[in-house]
Amino acid sequence: MYHLECIECGQKYTDSEVVYTCKCGGLLDVIYDYSAIQLDMERLRTEAPSVWKYKALLPVEGKPVSIHEGGTPLYRCDRLAEKIGIKELYVKHEGLNPSGSFKDRGMTVGVTKAMELGMKTLACASTGNTSASLSTYGAKAGLPVIVLLPEGKVALGKVAQALIHGAKVLSIRGNFDEAVVLVRQLCDEEKIYLLNSINPYRLEGQKTIGYEICDQLGFNVPDRVIVPVGNAGNTAAIYKGFRELRELGVTESVPKMTGIQTEGACPVTKAFKKGVEEIIPEKNPETIATAIRIGNPVNAKKALRAIYGSGGYSEAVSDEELIEAQKDLAQLEGIGVEPASATSVAGLKKLIDSGVIDRDETVVCITTGHLLKDPEEVINISTKPITVDANIEAVRKAVFSR
Ligand code: F0G
Repeated sequence: MYHLECIECGQKYTDSEVVYTCKCGGLLDVIYDYSAIQLDMERLRTEAPSVWKYKALLPVEGKPVSIHEGGTPLYRCDRLAEKIGIKELYVKHEGLNPSGSFKDRGMTVGVTKAMELGMKTLACASTGNTSASLSTYGAKAGLPVIVLLPEGKVALGKVAQALIHGAKVLSIRGNFDEAVVLVRQLCDEEKIYLLNSINPYRLEGQKTIGYEICDQLGFNVPDRVIVPVGNAGNTAAIYKGFRELRELGVTESVPKMTGIQTEGACPVTKAFKKGVEEIIPEKNPETIATAIRIGNPVNAKKALRAIYGSGGYSEAVSDEELIEAQKDLAQLEGIGVEPASATSVAGLKKLIDSGVIDRDETVVCITTGHLLKDPEEVINISTKPITVDANIEAVRKAVFSR
């Protein structure tokens, strides 16, 4: 019913091969025979959203390694919409997945696939969330996990997760891009299963974000979906979800995929502004949004094809702009997100102000990770608590002080 295929040269691979990229170096995609897929529309319309609601469109047969991923809320955000100046705005909060990020959608599928393939050890390089998620699902599956993190550049909550779930945590004296090169070599040479987003099965899980947005809008498609971009897998995955629903006749259109990076780490945005598919890697990426502090995104070509193919856009925001968006989400809508997640909303504001996005569009912003992932950043950008003596006069004085 499905196989792997190179997006560059078309070379095919079977689903029983352990392969991440093509012999030619190209990225792989999972290709289905859509004519053989029967969707139960009655079930789709009635069952609550979750990753495994869409099992008919996922490339695994076995019992899922699952702890209830997906089914995240799609909030209508009228107060935020009013501030930004747009009519209809939704936020899909992926921070409410089991380990606090969208990565869980990819891991439930990727780790289930690892079990099917008989792999005995799992590994990834990560800016934090991938390692937190893989450690969680490795624990559930009973498989050992190795994670490579860039030393000193991973938010506290994410390191804590990898540690408590029992992963072997290596702190690499280098950046994320260097850790990716190392983990790929390790996995190739040691028969360890790689679960970075270069693994096409990861992206199959993440495409369910696209399904769920349609599902939660009554099988309607928004005009635009805005996604934070780091290693660039999620943008491509979500686009695929929308394309498949159209292919299967469930919907009639796809949204304009809009990818947001930070000014200090934006090779995809730069390629988009030049109108090309090839990025120029950045040697020293830097941003407060450590989750997307990435100079050489492995899935850049897939993401750029999604953006071009949907008539979308790409923009970069400053750290100040994303901090403002993080505060707006928290204080206008009660949605707590980590810095990288806020780039989608910061990008929306910037593109509304510059006239790229029309105020009449229906827009969905994806917030990718939970606020508590990065408590240190929040403390740094917030006013400090007021310390007072334990008596009512002191409390009253502080309450009414300005
Ligand atoms: N937002 C958050 C919170 C992330 O953790 C990531 C990626 C992204 C956005 C970007 O998604 O890579 O699909 O473009 N984090 C990876 C990690 C790189 O290792 O956790 P992408």
